[in-house]
Amino acid sequence: MTDITTRQDLELLMGQFYISLLEDPEIRPIFTDIAKIDLAAHLPIIVDFWEQALFGKGTYRNNTLAIHQQLHQKANLTAQNFKTWLSCFNTAVDANFKGPMAEKIKTRALSIATVMQIKIHS
Ligand code: HEM
Repeated sequence: MTDITTRQDLELLMGQFYISLLEDPEIRPIFTDIAKIDLAAHLPIIVDFWEQALFGKGTYRNNTLAIHQQLHQKANLTAQNFKTWLSCFNTAVDANFKGPMAEKIKTRALSIATVMQIKIHS
């Protein structure tokens, strides 16, 4: 198994992550019924976000926290939702990649999810 080094790696990872995330019966309706995202348009944005967060590359500049605060008004994101999100994320990383960047992306996801939960629930 290799480490995450390219945008293509992030595309593969996010594709796998979203397959399991959208299989969760509590998470799926948040994407399909509430946010009504077009997955084909959403995935490249997620890849942009992680390319920026992991490699400091690219042009992602959106306020992710504000987007989830607005989502929380409509969807009531629970602690359980965050646990599921992180579990799907970590499983997708561990199933596909191994190395310092694979560790870094999991640590970043945990820290962003932790701050996000504190901010949206306070
Ligand atoms: C309970 C956990 C979470 C749920 C249910 C969730 C759900 C969503 C949904 C439905 C959207 C689409 C919003 C829209 O376009 O209107 C979105 C966007 C996004 N989420 Fe999450 N999210 C969660 C946690 C996280 C975490 C922890 C991160 C980062 C570590 C994250 C990163 C993103 C990014 C980068 C976007 C794209 C925002 C943009 O359009 O620029 N999400 N999320």
